[in-house]
Amino acid sequence: MGRVRHSGGRGAVGNLASMADSGRVDDETAARAAALREELRDHNERYFLLDDPIISDAEYDALLRELIDLEAEHPSLVTADSPTQRPGGAPSATFAPVAHVVPMLSLDNAFTAEEVRAWDARISRLVPDRIVFVGEPKLDGLAISLLYEDGRLVRAATRGDGVTGDDVTANVATISSIPKRLRGAAAPRRLEVRGEVFMPLDAFEELNRRQGEAEERLFANPRNAAAGSLRQKDARVTASRALDFFGYQLGVQEGGPTLRSHHEMLSWTQDLGLPVNQHIRSLADIDTVIDFCERMLEQRHGLGYEIDGAVVKVDDLAQRAEMGFTSRAPRWAIAYKFPPEEKTTRLNGIMVSIGRTGRATPFALLEPVFVGGSTVGLATLHNQDEVARKDVRPGDVVIVRKAGDVIPEVVGPVLAKRPKRLRRWTFPANCPACGSPLVRLEGESDHHCVNLECPEQRVQRIVFFAGRGAMDVEGLGEERVRQFVDAGLLRDAGDIYSLTVERLVPLERLAARSAENLVASIEASKTQGLARVLVGLGIRHVGPTAAQALARALGHLDRVEHASVEELTAVDGVGPIIAESVARFFAVAGNRVVLDKLRHAGVDLSAPQRGAAPDVPVVLGGYTFVLTGGLESLTREGAEEAIEARGGKVTSSVSKKTSFVVVGENPGTKLAKAETLGVPILGEAAFVQLLEDGPPEGAA
Ligand code: IVH
Repeated sequence: MGRVRHSGGRGAVGNLASMADSGRVDDETAARAAALREELRDHNERYFLLDDPIISDAEYDALLRELIDLEAEHPSLVTADSPTQRPGGAPSATFAPVAHVVPMLSLDNAFTAEEVRAWDARISRLVPDRIVFVGEPKLDGLAISLLYEDGRLVRAATRGDGVTGDDVTANVATISSIPKRLRGAAAPRRLEVRGEVFMPLDAFEELNRRQGEAEERLFANPRNAAAGSLRQKDARVTASRALDFFGYQLGVQEGGPTLRSHHEMLSWTQDLGLPVNQHIRSLADIDTVIDFCERMLEQRHGLGYEIDGAVVKVDDLAQRAEMGFTSRAPRWAIAYKFPPEEKTTRLNGIMVSIGRTGRATPFALLEPVFVGGSTVGLATLHNQDEVARKDVRPGDVVIVRKAGDVIPEVVGPVLAKRPKRLRRWTFPANCPACGSPLVRLEGESDHHCVNLECPEQRVQRIVFFAGRGAMDVEGLGEERVRQFVDAGLLRDAGDIYSLTVERLVPLERLAARSAENLVASIEASKTQGLARVLVGLGIRHVGPTAAQALARALGHLDRVEHASVEELTAVDGVGPIIAESVARFFAVAGNRVVLDKLRHAGVDLSAPQRGAAPDVPVVLGGYTFVLTGGLESLTREGAEEAIEARGGKVTSSVSKKTSFVVVGENPGTKLAKAETLGVPILGEAAFVQLLEDGPPEGAA
């Protein structure tokens, strides 16, 4: 995926100085502009420096557009360092910046055949003559610009923000399929060839195997591996990474033939010795285009490299010139993006995991399979009824589905491939961790391990207490907690505060430095305040919202602990169910022991004064939401605030990066888009629940 970081922005703000401010700027507008600047900078950094974007290009553009509009209306809001004033993210410090003479643009997307036809209808109105197309595979790598002068490769640059990229000449020079000298006697004076650098699948698997052996980080997918390999400071590392390249576009051209069409351009490029993809086809009309897209979809797994769609381009260069560009992309090309991917693999087993509340969740152990851009080995099966409904049985060949970054899902068995006499899976009678019976109550879909002493529940309760939504103790994840529970250092969350460097250092796999860091983050967590402590305790029905309400109203843990059900019910935002649950929690002696440990350790058990900034646990950190349609219990603003207060983001358009689409009354086209992309859809009730509890265990 690429991004045009200057799109529209620079033109729109370039002459701001000459415009008068159209009135005083209210605080809210100024704050929104500041927030947008900050958010855009953050996304720029993730995109350019970390190779780890969390929003789609379209979402980025929507944010940038909003800031441009605000600044255009109120020029006094423009700051020298605003993302609108500088093309995208700062070029990385490691590589020299390269200014692209012709900007490197992105492509508009189509997700269905209808959208491709609609594109054809749009562009056909712009030119009098019939349009001939060229279809190409959409390679899932990263765009690169190669500059040849008098036939020699003199510079290679990444796209960067489309205007300025990174000079990666030394690294690109190690890619064997990229010629260092163009073929033929009459080389053009200057020629910029653009195309995609990618990592073939076998090279990707081999790289990850080596990374694994060396206990280095594995790459999530070939695209990341290719990007990471090009960003090496040491070109010898790039040289060891088997990258490949296909050209598909020209930038600067001085000398050489006058080209009239894309296919002429491609064959000339090929004559010069550059690799051109062999699946590229000339397509006479839009029906043939659709056939081509479908054929690419069928062939995608046999190519030896990842593709995520097909690119359709107008062949005739004169027609292209007539069609022109929108702010972010040419009108004469479109990317048809493949629907969520499905693969088959063996279901090796069904296991049950135990959560902090004792909930027993079945999950599929799959023969690892590369699907939707990453390797999937586990997938939740939710509960007994889901397993029964899908009728998946250990030993089955099953269909696994995943769209982009969405949670992988087992769709169902391939019955034709079911081995004979395969037995139905039955829910285990006993907890895999402690052996006590698993209980499913009348009217409920979940099983529970009801043994409060269950070691796995202990682990999960402590992990939850230390987790991001609660006390946020960095470095205390599941693996560590399990190690400490096994070593007898932790029995409950209160014990976290008795961990010292001296007690930790003797443990295996724990260096002194890590122990010191861990103890420091434990110490730092003491000041999180009452609301987060209440969330961390994992009281049933008490999510961030109820915890906040209790903390605000009662001010200190002592008052929450000793409040009667009536007093609790009187708190705004706390109903009888929550009140009962809180009272029941504090009546359990074992729970009070935990509280004593917290008190003793000096954990802050008070709430910040009224009027201080709201302090809702960031249960939605890293999640992106799109809202469509009207909600009953919340206004649009209220819903956005609630998401943002919990660390989530709200964006205006659905992409495969969207975590959830919240659907109210009379939803718009975003619903259909979410369905096409396989983005999880939430109704109002599920959304309110999510605000309360955070995403379910196992959500991406
Ligand atoms: S043409 C102005 N052709 O997809 C159009 N792009 O989503 C320039 N890509 O930035 C791009 N395969 O990194 C083109 N056959 C192909 C492509 C292709 C992959 C990438 C490229 C581009 C991105 C847009």
